[in-house]
Amino acid sequence: MTPLVRTKNLKTYFPILQGIIRRPVGYVKAVDDISLDVQHGQWLGLVGESGCGKTTLGKTILRLIEPTSGHIYFDTPSEIFQQIESAENENNQETLETLYDTYDLATFSGGKLKVLRKDMQLVHQDPFSSLNPRMKIKDIVSEPMIVHNSTSGDERLKRAAELMNLVGLSEKNLSRYPHQFSGGQRQRIAIARALATTPKFIVFDEPTSALDVSVQAQILILLKELKQKFNLTYLYITHALTVAESVCDSIAVMYLGKIVEYGDPSVIFKEPMHPYTQALILSTPIPDPQQKRVRLVLPGEVPSPSNPPPGCRFHPRCSRATDVCATTEPPLKQRGQNRKVACWHPLV
Ligand SMILES: Nc1ncnc2c1ncn2[C@@H]1O[C@H](COP(=O)(O)OP(=O)(O)O)[C@@H](O)[C@H]1O
Ligand SMILES: [Mg+2]
Repeated sequence: MTPLVRTKNLKTYFPILQGIIRRPVGYVKAVDDISLDVQHGQWLGLVGESGCGKTTLGKTILRLIEPTSGHIYFDTPSEIFQQIESAENENNQETLETLYDTYDLATFSGGKLKVLRKDMQLVHQDPFSSLNPRMKIKDIVSEPMIVHNSTSGDERLKRAAELMNLVGLSEKNLSRYPHQFSGGQRQRIAIARALATTPKFIVFDEPTSALDVSVQAQILILLKELKQKFNLTYLYITHALTVAESVCDSIAVMYLGKIVEYGDPSVIFKEPMHPYTQALILSTPIPDPQQKRVRLVLPGEVPSPSNPPPGCRFHPRCSRATDVCATTEPPLKQRGQNRKVACWHPLV
């Protein structure tokens, strides 16, 4: 299957600057060697504790954050992937350079990036800060259309009205300002803005975590409808595992800059293979008070991504860790259909 989005060995390191001349004294390895595919029409959930690099990964894919190294492909034909793979195997630098220049988003800048922005959008976590309080809704929603010069003023207004209806808001709201709306409504407006350029791929960065549970559920229903209607592909970042389980069709679990487990939610939640995934599931509160809660608290702190532990990054907190875990990093290995795990001693 040819993915819509593919990252290959993607790394995003933030320099830690010190001294008067701001010299880098180290790096925060927020995204550290991630190779991940998002299939056409997939709703992929990206889960993990706060600070593990989810936002950085999402924004790097969209090229809102500069990658340090690695490759990002978007809507690339399968024959091009084959060409890239054989050129990589043959170490044919000349061919590779041409292919990367044409297809690897990590090499894009200026106009090429702008064209791409039309197809890839971001919806932020916080609907209170992501909308400019001084702009009317019609200007907020049509702003991406202006940036991409797609239509005339009248057409933009018509489209803005259409987008408002699509997200369940009346077009009468177009002349109002963000502060006149609730959190859920603002997130609908942010979704309308993201849809303005008819994107193919949307990254949602914890879009419902600032909202009440009932409002959250309505937004999720809306996202499902929009996805079907426009054949969209989602990367959905969340730390709420119950949300990921209920809406996503695949889950990637991230720990300290790495993907440690990947698979179908029904399988991952029932039989997590990575001890980190298991701990994450067991530490999630169960909403039903009748149900007995087996809470597992992960021992120790999340280590600093500027100085990640050697070997398996999870080993200092892992009850199954042995010598090999402290010295050698486990690769993300295929374990059954649509299942990948990076662990020397997986469960089950
Ligand atoms: N612009 C930045 N400069 C330096 N460090 C950053 C920057 N953005 C994020 N980080 C660091 O990168 C790590 C991952 O952050 P982030 O991607 O926001 O994680 P998450 O979204 O999973 O909470 C954290 O240690 C964070 O402090
Ligand atoms: Mg984040």
